[in-house]
Amino acid sequence: MKSPLAIALLLTSSIDAHAADLPSPLEDMDFLWNGTPSPELYELGRSLFFDPILSGNQNIACATCHDPARGTGDGVSLSIGEGGSGFGPERVTQDGVIGRVPRNAQPLYNIGARAYTSMFHDGRLELDHMSGFPSHLRSPAKEQLPEGLDNALTAQAMFPVLSAVEMAGQPGENPVADAVSKRDFNRAWRLLADRLAATPAYSDQFVVIFDDVEAPQDIRFDHAATAIAAFETVAFRSDWSRFDARLAGWPLNATEEAGLDLFYGKAGCSSCHSGPLLTDHEFHAIAVPQIGPGKDQGPDGSYAAHSGYPHRVEDQGRFNVTGENADLYAFRTPSLRNVALTGPWGHNGAFASLEDMVRHHLDAVASLASYTPAELQPLDTVIQPVRSRTGVSYQALSPMQRSTYDLRDIWVHSSERLRNEIARANTLAPVDLSDEEVSSILAFLETLTDPTAIDRSYLVPTVLPSGLPPQPGRDDACLTDIVPWVGAKALPGEAEDLPEPRCDDRGDKIQQ
Ligand code: HEC
Ligand code: HEC
Repeated sequence: MKSPLAIALLLTSSIDAHAADLPSPLEDMDFLWNGTPSPELYELGRSLFFDPILSGNQNIACATCHDPARGTGDGVSLSIGEGGSGFGPERVTQDGVIGRVPRNAQPLYNIGARAYTSMFHDGRLELDHMSGFPSHLRSPAKEQLPEGLDNALTAQAMFPVLSAVEMAGQPGENPVADAVSKRDFNRAWRLLADRLAATPAYSDQFVVIFDDVEAPQDIRFDHAATAIAAFETVAFRSDWSRFDARLAGWPLNATEEAGLDLFYGKAGCSSCHSGPLLTDHEFHAIAVPQIGPGKDQGPDGSYAAHSGYPHRVEDQGRFNVTGENADLYAFRTPSLRNVALTGPWGHNGAFASLEDMVRHHLDAVASLASYTPAELQPLDTVIQPVRSRTGVSYQALSPMQRSTYDLRDIWVHSSERLRNEIARANTLAPVDLSDEEVSSILAFLETLTDPTAIDRSYLVPTVLPSGLPPQPGRDDACLTDIVPWVGAKALPGEAEDLPEPRCDDRGDKIQQ
C-alpha cells in the first residue's frame, strides 16, 4: 500500500508546473544549533527576552516590541520604545518620549535560520569574512563588538540595549544610557552583565551553562546574547503552514494554487521572495513611501531649515551601509512566512492592509504617487534635553514646538523632490494583474500562515529571575508555562500534537 505522502505526491505531480521553483522544506539542520540548543540555554534566553532588566531604566523588554501574540511584532507601524507604557496599539507615552523608533519592528519567525547572515531592514549588521572586524561581523559597533560571537543573530541581541530610543534610555537617566551616549558600548554591556551577575537566580544559570563562567563576575553580555539567540531560534521557528504541507506534496485549494502559480510565475514575486523563507536576503528598492522620523540621513536640510531641529528626515536604507548609489532606498526582502500576521507592512509600516502592500508591487511608482500617509500612533508627550551646568534634564515640548516636531513624520512624503528620488531609485518593474489574480495571490499568502504562530503567548514566563514583571503583561489566568515542542515536527494533517491555544487575541482565557 502506498503511504499518504506518496499518494499526495502523485496527486500534485500533475498540477505542479512550478515544482522546479519551489524550495525544499526547512529542516533542523537549516537552523542554528541544528534547531535544538540545550533546554537550559533556551530557558535562560526565554527569561531574558521578556525581562525589562536589560533596559537602562528597567522598563522595556525585547518582547515589548516582539510580542509572540502579535506576529512577533507590536502591531503598529513604528514602535514606541523606551518611556512608553502599555503594549501594541494601546501603548501610551504620558511620561514622555524623545521620539518613535524609525522603522517597523521586524518579525522574528525563523530568524534562527542559518540563511540569515544579515540583520535589520538595511543589513547593517552582517557576516563578512573579509571585514577584519571581531567575529567577522561588520556592524555599527565596529571593533567594539567582541570576539567569539558565533552568528549574526547572537550579535544582533547586543544592539537593542544600545539604542536610546529602544531600550537604553536618555543620558542622565541611567548609567547604561550615559555609556551609550559616549559610544562606550563595552561599558554599557559591562553594566548590564553586572546586573545579571548581581541577580543570583540569573548568575547561577550562567555558571551552569557556560564553560567560561566560573563565578558571577565572569558573565559577559555576549553570554546573554547567546541565550537570547538560542531562545529565538526555537521559539519563533515556524514551518507548520499549509505552504509547508504543499512543499511536502499536499495540494492547496484551486484559488491558492492559482496564487502559487502567479507567485512563482507571471507575477514574478519569487525572483525576490525566493527559497524556503521566501526571501533572497538581498536588498531592493521598491519605492515604499516613507513615513515617520527617518534615520537622520541624507543631504536634505529642508526640515531642519523649516523647524529649527537639527534633524534630517530621510531613511536611505542599504545606501547608508554601502554608500553605493544602486542601494539608495533599498531594503532587505522580507520573509513572507506568516505575513498575514505581521502587519502593518513595509520597513516602516507604511501599509496597513496586506492587499495595499501587494498592490504597491504592481506599479510601485504610481502607488507612491497616490499614497496617503498612514496614521501613526499619537505621541502624548515628547520631551527634549535641556543642558545646564549641573547636567541634563528633560522638558516637554510646547504645543508650538510639537507641531513643527510632528512634521518630520510626513516631511519626506510631502516633498515632491524627495518623493521623486524614491521613485527614481525603484527597481521593481510594473506587472499587470487582474483583481482576481491579486485575490489569488492573497489567498496564497494566507497559506504561509502557520496556525501555531497565531498566538504564542504561552512563551511569556509567569515569573522572571529578576523578579520584575515580564513584558508584555498578560492576564494571569492566561499565563501558562509550557515549553514549545523542540524539533518535533508533523504535518498539519497530524496536528493533534499542537499545544492548544490558551488565550484569545488579546490574552483572555479561552473556555475549554
Ligand atoms: C522598541 C522596540 C524594540 C525593542 C525593545 C527590540 N526590538 Fe528588535 N527590532 C525592532 C525594530 C524597529 C527592528 C528593525 C530595526 C532596523 O531595521 O533598523 C528590530 C529588528 C530586530 C531583529 C532583526 C530581524 C531581522 O530580520 O533582521 C532581531 C533579531 C531583533 N530585533 C531582536 C530583538 C531582541 C533580541 C531584542 C531585545 C534584546 C529586541 N529586538 C528589542 C524593535 C525593537
Ligand atoms: C524586486 C524584488 C521584489 C519582488 C519582485 C517582489 N517583492 Fe515583495 N518586497 C520586496 C522588498 C525589498 C520588500 C520590502 C520593501 C520595504 O519595506 O521598503 C517587499 C515587501 C513585500 C511585502 C511586505 C512584507 C512585510 O513583512 O512587510 C509583501 C507582502 C510582499 N513584498 C509581497 C510580494 C508579492 C506578492 C510579490 C509579487 C507580486 C512581490 N512581493 C514581489 C521585494 C520584492
